[in-house]
Amino acid sequence: MAKIVIVGHKGQLGRMLDAFPTGFEHVGLDLPEFDMTDALAVMDTLGTIQPQVVINAAAYTNVDKAESESDLVYAVNAHAVGHLARACHRLGVPLVHVSSNEVFDGAATMAYDEWDQPHPTSTYARSKLAGETAARFFHDQVLIVRTAWLFGPGGNNFPAKIIAAADKHGQLRVVADEFGNPTFAPDLAAGIMALVGRSAPAGIYHVTNTGAASRYEFACEVLRQAGRGHVPVTPIAHTEWQRPSQPPLRAVLANRAAAAYGVVLPAWQDAVTAWIERERREGRL
Ligand SMILES: NC(=O)c1ccc[n+]([C@@H]2O[C@H](COP(=O)([O-])OP(=O)(O)OC[C@H]3O[C@@H](n4cnc5c(N)ncnc54)[C@H](OP(=O)(O)O)[C@@H]3O)[C@@H](O)[C@H]2O)c1
Repeated sequence: MAKIVIVGHKGQLGRMLDAFPTGFEHVGLDLPEFDMTDALAVMDTLGTIQPQVVINAAAYTNVDKAESESDLVYAVNAHAVGHLARACHRLGVPLVHVSSNEVFDGAATMAYDEWDQPHPTSTYARSKLAGETAARFFHDQVLIVRTAWLFGPGGNNFPAKIIAAADKHGQLRVVADEFGNPTFAPDLAAGIMALVGRSAPAGIYHVTNTGAASRYEFACEVLRQAGRGHVPVTPIAHTEWQRPSQPPLRAVLANRAAAAYGVVLPAWQDAVTAWIERERREGRL
């Protein structure tokens, strides 16, 4: 049976890609058994598996810690992506590489199209852009899928943290001047698999749930739908929320390229509904 390799299959997105039904056999790779920073191991492992497609959902994703661990961040998010791209080039198979809205500086007033000029402003974001560049340098069959504000079932993510904080403190302060596209990991997994299934060509794709929100709007919607709409939420400026790295304020993505292949994800508010239903069904809420 034809095989899809999912690198980072234990992560928030990787688990959803692995669980998504396709006509392929899924082969998951992740730490500690598989370290993609080991160039020879990447070449050997993929050469042995002989996949038809490789999807890379692995990354160093701790944006704040990245500021003090730049060697490791670049090893995983940039150099290792180059290893995957070289191995895929040798096998002659496409590489789908997941990247981030944070490659943009967020200074724009409109949503970013796929062809807009990136300008990353943090260590994590610079490493993600370097990963995109490395992938496309070593291989011509690369689909870069940029996404944003990912949340999945059972993850340590923004909606889960908002609900936990509301239950603990009875009130919240949430940044109201940072905007993005909340994106449900199962929806993104379905979008990526649709691009693969429709043989979308090499290029950059912005794939998020439809619509954008501020952190404050996202939090209010989560609390409302989770039956905690009575919890007072105070909107604050990003300058009142100190953190080691400053995320881009308006790195909202516009989906032009994937939409041309019929890949348009549901509205982010519907994604919140789906997330809450799943958290309840699986006993986490
Ligand atoms: N989370 C977001 O809000 C967001 C937003 C935009 C874009 N993205 C991008 O979306 C993708 C998926 O993110 P996610 O939230 O699903 O990430 P995640 O939950 O942190 O999962 C990443 C996975 O990669 C693994 N990994 C790390 N280093 C590795 C290595 N050297 N070799 C093999 N595997 C390694 C991790 O293992 P360990 O856990 O053991 O380290 C983990 O299982 C990433 O490319 C990320 O940059 C995420």
